[in-house]
Amino acid sequence: MSTIESILNETRIFPPSDEFTKKANIPSLQAYQVLCAEAELDYQNFWAKQAKEQILWHSPFTQTLDDRTPPDYQWFNDGELNVSYNCLDRHLATQADKIAIIFEADDGEVIQSTYRDLHQRVCQLANALKSQNIQKGDRVIIYMPMRIEAVVAMQACARIGAIHSVVFGGFSAKSLHERIVDAGAIAVITADEQVRGGKHNPLKATLDEAMNMNDTTSVKLVVVYQRTGSGIPFNPVRDVWWHEITQGVSTQCEPEWVNAEHPLFTLYTSGSTGKPKGVQHSSAGYLLGTKLSMQWIFDYKPSDIFWCTADVGWITGHSYVTYGPLAMGATQVIFEGIPTYPHAGRFWEIIQKHRVTTFYTAPTAIRSLIKLGADLPAQYDLSSLRLLGSVGEPINPEAWMWFYEKIGQSRCPIVDTWWQTETGCHMIAPMPGAVPLKPGSCTFPLPGIFAAIVDEAGHDVENGKGGFLVIKKPFPSQIRTLWGDPERFKKTYFPEDMGQGKFYLAGDSAYRDMDGYFWIMGRIDDVLNVSGHRLGTMEIESALVANPLVAEAAVVGKPHEIKGESVIAFVVLKGEYPRGEEMVQITNTLRDWVAQEIGPIAKPDEIRFGENLPKTRSGKIMRRLLRALAKGEEITQDISTLENPAILEQLKHPSK
Ligand code: WTA
Repeated sequence: MSTIESILNETRIFPPSDEFTKKANIPSLQAYQVLCAEAELDYQNFWAKQAKEQILWHSPFTQTLDDRTPPDYQWFNDGELNVSYNCLDRHLATQADKIAIIFEADDGEVIQSTYRDLHQRVCQLANALKSQNIQKGDRVIIYMPMRIEAVVAMQACARIGAIHSVVFGGFSAKSLHERIVDAGAIAVITADEQVRGGKHNPLKATLDEAMNMNDTTSVKLVVVYQRTGSGIPFNPVRDVWWHEITQGVSTQCEPEWVNAEHPLFTLYTSGSTGKPKGVQHSSAGYLLGTKLSMQWIFDYKPSDIFWCTADVGWITGHSYVTYGPLAMGATQVIFEGIPTYPHAGRFWEIIQKHRVTTFYTAPTAIRSLIKLGADLPAQYDLSSLRLLGSVGEPINPEAWMWFYEKIGQSRCPIVDTWWQTETGCHMIAPMPGAVPLKPGSCTFPLPGIFAAIVDEAGHDVENGKGGFLVIKKPFPSQIRTLWGDPERFKKTYFPEDMGQGKFYLAGDSAYRDMDGYFWIMGRIDDVLNVSGHRLGTMEIESALVANPLVAEAAVVGKPHEIKGESVIAFVVLKGEYPRGEEMVQITNTLRDWVAQEIGPIAKPDEIRFGENLPKTRSGKIMRRLLRALAKGEEITQDISTLENPAILEQLKHPSK
């Protein structure tokens, strides 16, 4: 409730300038409403029309939506297409020499790739993969640095109909292993090393470690891109060099035409159990969503220099690096490094150097850059910018204002885009030439997206009241299933008691203000959002209890100034309650352990030890109490069901 009150106090409103509106793709509120009305009238027809206009079909579809067995929706399914063809080949006749990617390496080296060049590279790798027996439907894990080659690898898979599953380079061997096994991957594409912020991360060595664990025999091939040339162990039966298998290979590769519903990729994300979920996306519906949102929300213009700072290991990097911008024929910047290396002005320097027009990043990056140099942007020429974007978590009004004034120079609209791995593309976000902005609100749904706030029974709640964020009708870019777990898919996203199992339940709470604007309040499940990354509390708990020292663990989030949320673990050890130096040592051991098990992003910021955890008489951990303890709040809540009240005192303090 207090969140809603603080949001209600936000009364600033920023209409688009006349100058922006004049050139905008959707130039007025009315134009936006016309699109919405069209979708309201007949949403299937609306999407069918868009799909015909936006996608180059090898063979056209005749049925728009098969919704006979919800929630298994099939869009445009008898149509055939190839996503890579739609991203590359379609531009060859008209703009082969246009720069597709301006790549800036960690050390500042710049490499440019035109559409012709990118097409050739993708075809060469696709041919090489085919000659190594990778076929349509095979799963390929991609564990790569943020470079042109990561995009080439994804596009090459799409070209031959192989299903890629990108694993973020920051994940550990254990996490990588889990994903390889779950996907039943046939091949892995990786690099010898990754370089970020001057530091080398040994991707191939981590992969080898993963491959030495159980059940990895499905993997027949490992393709290694040489990034640094550091010596790495090579398995002659399984490993091949990227540059060797592509050398002299034909630069033409007939695309594999696939059905619209053919899985383009799976991407693992955290949920409320210990096991990550393989979110499966389609080919046509996904492509359509990314393409339309480039035009509607990013107001794409052929003269744009588009820069999305997300890594391809996350959905944002899939939709707004690898697929959306290329499908539009855009010129985009890809950056290998981190915002603070070698100096805190690196992002602003890149914008200045490459004349970036559209800059899309995460609130956590904005907050950390404010902290490192709120006045730094003034030293750079940011006049090329015309549009800013934010994604991954709610942006607090202070960060919004700084972004608006210091980066956008009070000239550029900010599109605050709400969406998820599961939705494939933006769901609730402003059309920047049409919708007046309110700092901290993602504003209104895209046309054809029937978002609503409902109560437990699925009934709409009135404006001003919080509830569950749902999407009431199917939409083309939505998740198709969870890889290998259709039951979990249904249970998680389409609960029976809401809209008769037909509402997509996002897992966020939200509310609409009196003007109907949407405000996202945060996750309702046991998922944390740390620096814009989704982490399941159960995943971290399972990692902790896998350590021989730990008897029991509970993980909660605590608000954090820069990261949004930080990870706090409450731990019961098997041995004695630790004291003094021993407590410091065990804390460090357990933090490193979690980094090993999942990845450094999941490291708890704080570990508190107790002889027990607060539980109800039936043995359920009382997480709401832990959340209050983590925040340092006095416990004012009802603790009558708590079996062991004395434990609260012990868990109050980080170390005692
Ligand atoms: C959160 C990232 C508020 C939300 C694209 C969602 C946001 C989760 C916003 C998905 C936003 C994302 N405002 N919250 N603009 N964008 N979220 O799957 O909790 O990594 O459910 O996808 O991030 O995270 P994911």
